[in-house]
Amino acid sequence: MISNEQQIINAWQANADPWAAAVRNRKIPSRVAVTDQAIIDACLQSAPQTGLDIGCGEGWLVRALAEQSVTMTGVDAVSELISAARRLSSDEFTVMNYGQIAGGAIQHKFDLVVCNFCLFGQQPVADLVAAIPNLLTDRGTFVLQTLHPETAGGDLVYKDGWRDGSWAGLGTGFTNPPPWYFRTLASWQKLITNSGLRLTQTLAPCVPGSSLPVSIIFSATAQKN
Ligand SMILES: C[S@@+](CC[C@H](N)C(=O)[O-])C[C@H]1O[C@@H](n2cnc3c(N)ncnc32)[C@H](O)[C@@H]1O
Repeated sequence: MISNEQQIINAWQANADPWAAAVRNRKIPSRVAVTDQAIIDACLQSAPQTGLDIGCGEGWLVRALAEQSVTMTGVDAVSELISAARRLSSDEFTVMNYGQIAGGAIQHKFDLVVCNFCLFGQQPVADLVAAIPNLLTDRGTFVLQTLHPETAGGDLVYKDGWRDGSWAGLGTGFTNPPPWYFRTLASWQKLITNSGLRLTQTLAPCVPGSSLPVSIIFSATAQKN
């Protein structure tokens, strides 16, 4: 029996090519309409000079922030995606999973640590978020964008738990959607604040013309003792 956490990694490995194509060919409407620019704006708010994109995928956000003069590093568990990222930029990309980061594999500190739509597991995600303060400079900000809990859960009971996955809306070529771990809004807030971080901003971007938020963006700084 393969664990849910391993199924997530396996699915990104198996779907690296269609994922890179969907992102690069601008096939995901919500990204084009709102969430790409929303995360860029949230990241640039604190005028970072250095940044770490965790779960960077094929590297679009690293490239976008590097264009704004942020010295960026990208890490992801899937070697195919890191190879794809390296083919389009000379920024630093490394194959690394959340467990390794939580275990202290990254010794540098950054003005910005960003996670964009990549925190879909349970314990490895909790361990990763707990390690974020160690990755931030004194002026550093953690920025996290994920599905908005109040619109992503469908008709299911509003409480934390594993949900069936789906590639709906991403285009063709995807196989075997992995399960993902749903967190309520309160649960995300608790995870962040219990990890030695102080929430400084919460945004809920909407697709133009819709009143429903498509994502949520948390910004946080390390708590000063
Ligand atoms: C929806 S994609 C988002 C990629 C990128 N952040 C973006 O905005 O396009 C989710 C990413 O999270 C990565 N990921 C999932 N679980 C991971 C883990 N445990 N360690 C490292 N990367 C992981 C996947 O490989 C995939 O690239």
